[in-house]
Amino acid sequence: MTVRILVAEDEEIMRITVLDHLCDQGWQVDAAINGSEALALVKKNNYDLIISDIRMPGMDGEKLLAEVKHLAPRTEVILMTAHGNTDNAVSCLKKGAADYILKPFDLDDLTFRVQRLLNILTIKARCVSLENCCGQRQPLIGSSPPMQQLLKLISQVSQSDATVLIQGDSGTGKELVAAAIHYESRRADKPYIRVNCAAIPAGLLESELFGHEKGAFTGAEQTSIGKFELADQGTILLDEIGDLPLNLQVKLLRVLQEHEIERVGGRALIPIDVRVLCATARNLTEEIKKGRFREDLYYRLQVIPVSVPTLRERKGDISELCDFFLQQFGQERGLTFSLSPEVSQALNKYPFPGNVRELRNVLERLTVLAPAPKIQLWDLPLEIRGIKEDVAEKGEVNLATAVAVAEKRCIRNALKKTAGNKTEAAEVLGISRKNLWEKMKQYGIKT
Ligand SMILES: Nc1ncnc2c1ncn2[C@@H]1O[C@H](COP(=O)(O)OP(=O)(O)OP(=O)(O)O)[C@@H](O)[C@H]1O
Ligand SMILES: [Mg+2]
Repeated sequence: MTVRILVAEDEEIMRITVLDHLCDQGWQVDAAINGSEALALVKKNNYDLIISDIRMPGMDGEKLLAEVKHLAPRTEVILMTAHGNTDNAVSCLKKGAADYILKPFDLDDLTFRVQRLLNILTIKARCVSLENCCGQRQPLIGSSPPMQQLLKLISQVSQSDATVLIQGDSGTGKELVAAAIHYESRRADKPYIRVNCAAIPAGLLESELFGHEKGAFTGAEQTSIGKFELADQGTILLDEIGDLPLNLQVKLLRVLQEHEIERVGGRALIPIDVRVLCATARNLTEEIKKGRFREDLYYRLQVIPVSVPTLRERKGDISELCDFFLQQFGQERGLTFSLSPEVSQALNKYPFPGNVRELRNVLERLTVLAPAPKIQLWDLPLEIRGIKEDVAEKGEVNLATAVAVAEKRCIRNALKKTAGNKTEAAEVLGISRKNLWEKMKQYGIKT
């Protein structure tokens, strides 16, 4: 990540000396001759750090600090001040400056202070991203009528212990809905365990769900506790339930009826108190017709059916989602992103076959690749601009887009060749089944 610094200093020699020295460290540095000029630059660009003199004609460093804290709260400010003026500097620290340095100073001392501050910023950014991936609880964004209905249903469903079947197209937010149900329920402070039935090889799934006794099969050197036992007192989400093999469907049905499990290779029945949530993007009634899903299990699972609307059905939420994701990704990078009106218009027109996941991925990519924080129409992927994939491929100059187009085509071909069998398709492609599953998610490819 390029570090961007702004130096505000009225004395020319000082300004140029600091500017040159910081540029030599490999940082991108701009300079302003007073507070007002600095402020104009802050409104235009995103800076990690501002190094400002306190005494300047017109707008001084103290006023600049106040404006920056208001306009760009994540930009840090270091103040430079002459000896005898430390009272001022200390009051600036109280108002949010990160540090101050007394003039005249050693340039190495300045570099040291800047580097120390940048290290802290990096750690802060890492914390944000860790919180994002650790915290299973993420807000469900959207206030359109379908979303309001969904939120109401979630709060009703949370009050009971009934099994819930969450259905909806890929990327609509089923996992977030499941987490919301758990965290609003009386089990909120108990474990919330998620099992992805599609990403775990069929042979390992039973042990993953119910655990196994030592010696139950080759390689079972220790007794292992399964996810159902781990979730005791809490909630388990059986994600991608449509991919649960038939033999395990029978076992799951028994667990739901008897509230007890049996470890692989074990003889004892272990009582469990687990609330079961299931999610799938598959049409289970179709799966029943094809003989791939048990009808009795289907009725047992959907005690309360919850259906998550597609993004097309709640277009009114697109701008709210954009604001949320841009803020999230911006925060990770210490930048403030916005969309040009043409971009908002194109996003509103696009049907988003991959739903919220697709919108999120597009915005994440833009915040990494777009050359300026104001995202323009030409920064958008071709399909959103309404340009066809084959045309796009011929004239494509962006490597990432060209690779994505080629990858999509290979995956579709492999799935066609293997009649939708993911294990075989993964083999043909030379990638793992999990990797294939993730890529299908990313590109919104269905079997
Ligand atoms: N209403 C929402 N507000 C904020 N983020 C959302 C919302 N809905 C979905 N997302 C985000 O979109 C992405 C996809 O959501 P999620 O994984 O829950 O989809 P899914 O319905 O389980 O899809 P799949 O069937 O492909 O597994 C996640 O990054 C999630 O955080
Ligand atoms: Mg999911």
